[in-house]
Amino acid sequence: MDTSKGKIIISGGKPLYGEIPVSGMKNAAVAILFSTILTEDKCIIENLPDISDVNVSLEILRSIGVKVRHLDKNTVEIDSSSAAPCVAPYELVSKMRASYYLIGAELGRFGRAFVGLPGGCDFGVRPIDQHIKGFEALGADAKIDGGYIEASCPDGVLHGNSVYMDVVTVGGTINLMLAAVRAEGITVIENAAHEPHIVDTANFLNACGADIRGAGTGVIKILGVKKLHGGTYTIVPDMIEAGTFMILAAATGGNLKVTNLIPKHMDSVTAKLCEMGVKVEEDGDSLTVSRGDEELQHVNVKTQPYPGFPTDMNPQMGVLLCLAKGISHLTENVWESRFRYVEELKRMGAKIQVNGRTAEFTGVPSLHAASVRAVDLRAGSAMVIAALATPGITEIEEIHHIFRGYENLIEKLRAIGADIKVAYPENISYNVF
Ligand code: EPZ
Repeated sequence: MDTSKGKIIISGGKPLYGEIPVSGMKNAAVAILFSTILTEDKCIIENLPDISDVNVSLEILRSIGVKVRHLDKNTVEIDSSSAAPCVAPYELVSKMRASYYLIGAELGRFGRAFVGLPGGCDFGVRPIDQHIKGFEALGADAKIDGGYIEASCPDGVLHGNSVYMDVVTVGGTINLMLAAVRAEGITVIENAAHEPHIVDTANFLNACGADIRGAGTGVIKILGVKKLHGGTYTIVPDMIEAGTFMILAAATGGNLKVTNLIPKHMDSVTAKLCEMGVKVEEDGDSLTVSRGDEELQHVNVKTQPYPGFPTDMNPQMGVLLCLAKGISHLTENVWESRFRYVEELKRMGAKIQVNGRTAEFTGVPSLHAASVRAVDLRAGSAMVIAALATPGITEIEEIHHIFRGYENLIEKLRAIGADIKVAYPENISYNVF
């Protein structure tokens, strides 16, 4: 089904109640899938979310000779024994940002890589200079030429080194880790990113015989090993999907038990929701979020690398600030421009003023239904929240962005009472599902 032509139709304005489960983390899954190139043995990866970024990653792996076998919808067996550093198809690689992990993984396995520049959400400039700095520190020659990144090391072997990252970068940290696990000697990454998906990737690689210490802190030490063996690994729950559902509960005024999450990963989101007067109760691997009749209080939010408030929760929080009493400010400190969703919310009557990296929200009692677009993955999830919190019929187009990162979204929302359907054009009418 070509979801780029589809639209989501929502009749909103009703509080939502019930339990909503969280799937495996997209940003851990894509990193771990490319990490499997580093071993010649078979791996089994469990709790993979069935989303287009994972399916594109599996297609890219197949295109370089990796054997992929689905054991069920969320479990794959990966055999990279016959992988070869050939050029993955540009139309796949250019679909998502995570394809850059192909460089670190192929360098770490074969000593060379030739990969198309990655795609992904449009947040303005998305450089990879820190990735290249890391590869060069390990002895590779790396250059960008005509839309491709070419990297290789003279004797086919990388050599460990200390690298101080000029910027806290998730992708740069993971990519350097991938290149270093089979390098000769010790690599130390300083000013490393702390995100849970970095820890998950390190845990997977260590389960395959790597020797990575300190993942989740600012200093990661990697003692190179000659080979890796296979392993079985379960992806952690998606903290951004969990945060999206927590904000959905607050925005609709309902009561949602968000299950299969790691509460610790949600601390910054939980703290901000509590500051707004939202109730969050922890119970093992779930958080119950409710607002009752309380009005949402205005707050100021600043996105930061983990464990700060996640940039990937910017748009979803933006919807909540539209409905909070008074004036709130949201400052985006990670990406150059991540406020393209504001124009879509203003079509629904939101009062927002963007000044550089800060958006000022003036709360309104309610938004009004409209036709809007998903301008990127997380902005798309924000539009779903806005539509579900708004009385009337809202239609969302360009929904392919949303299905890149949210598994079974329509079914999960229907199960908690959402009136939501997807329509795809069939000649002049729409088939509604
Ligand atoms: C990852 O992107 C995530 N994507 C993004 O999530 C997320 O927004 C981002 O991390 C920050 O948490 C995946 O994991 C696939 P960065 P990444 O390198 O690795 C600058 C989503 O919605 N930078 O941490 O590309 C960069 O410009 C997506 O799931 C350099 O300057 O992000 C940015 O300002 C959207 N040079 C900052 O660092 C570099 O070489 C953080 O980028 C690399 C990055």
